[in-house]
Amino acid sequence: MPSVVPQPVAAKLTSAAVFLVVTINPGRENDLAVRGVCADLSSLLRGVGFRDLAGRLSCVMGFGSEAWDRLFGMPRPSELHPFREIRGVHHAVSTPGDILFHIRATRMDLCFELAAQIMSRLDGAVTAVDEVHGFKYFDERDLLGFVDGTENPVDQEALDAVIIGEEDSTFAGGSYVITQKYLHDLTRWNAVPTEEQENIIGRHKLSDIEQEDAAKAPYAHNVLTTLIEDGKQLQILRDNMPFGEIGKREFGTYFIGYARSPDRIEQMLQNMFVGRPPGNYDRLLDFSRAVTGTLFFVPSATFLDDVAPDGPSPAVEAPSPAPVDARPSRPSRNDGSLGIGSLKEEAGHE
Ligand code: HEM
Repeated sequence: MPSVVPQPVAAKLTSAAVFLVVTINPGRENDLAVRGVCADLSSLLRGVGFRDLAGRLSCVMGFGSEAWDRLFGMPRPSELHPFREIRGVHHAVSTPGDILFHIRATRMDLCFELAAQIMSRLDGAVTAVDEVHGFKYFDERDLLGFVDGTENPVDQEALDAVIIGEEDSTFAGGSYVITQKYLHDLTRWNAVPTEEQENIIGRHKLSDIEQEDAAKAPYAHNVLTTLIEDGKQLQILRDNMPFGEIGKREFGTYFIGYARSPDRIEQMLQNMFVGRPPGNYDRLLDFSRAVTGTLFFVPSATFLDDVAPDGPSPAVEAPSPAPVDARPSRPSRNDGSLGIGSLKEEAGHE
């Protein structure tokens, strides 16, 4: 039975990223143009990525709920739905987005070039609704000054957290991703004593060591985002990136979280914005405003490769259940697939 290769959702953290969210313009011809890029994405990636293999260029392409119906119809991923806004102590907005391109590399020029090539292929077919260029800030810190990403799962644990298996066998090898663009009020944040900042995050700022459980505030970010079910932690994989424009006094964190079910990310958001229990909300949000909110399904690379510009959805003929092949690959491979990064080599920090 042919195996399914996931997209590189669990690629190693990089020092540069482009987060590009687009909507598809009305018209059947635009759907066809997007479908054309699905199958050609691996080729575009090879073309740009091969110019510097050490740059580890990768691209994940995800689809919003309405876009999925428009492009591929039935069958659809079982948990795909639009991002649900949350009105709690703070507001998690839901904003438009049909397609996400999450482009990562160790060099921004590689990300920039791939984004430009993709958009030139999609010229007239899509409208960019959000574009963020993220950078690495010292030792993986966010602009609040804390190291971000420490507790991410690695290796097999990361795959188990993000790659769909038998629970939705038609879409095995896929994943879900939620993104939110946050803007920080750094003037107010920097006026907060370091000790209280540490209570808000639940870790020590300079050393990045986690506070002892007994010492953590009930509203600490790492308390509210820890979910335990049947004695096991429900993990997600984050690759947040700082971004900003100093002249505009814009300082932000682009949150991106992958998981095999969006439900666990939504539960974390509920805990952060409404509180667990309600009212015990995440104080990070007193200083950070979510200005976007989107949810996408990330089909396997095998699915993308099999999209014909005007044919049935590859899921119609998907062998079910197909084994998932998460072996290492490189953009230079010539088997036509996007490939997933080797988790042994690529998961974790640079
Ligand atoms: C302003 C946006 C955010 C910032 C600046 C931020 C920052 C951080 C920092 C500094 C940590 C501690 C180090 C680490 O383990 O990575 C952390 C942990 C974590 N964050 Fe966030 N985060 C943000 C939004 C979110 C959102 C929206 C979610 C989920 C919906 C989330 C989920 C998590 C999880 C699961 C952990 C690990 C908790 C643990 O196991 O200890 N974060 N975040």
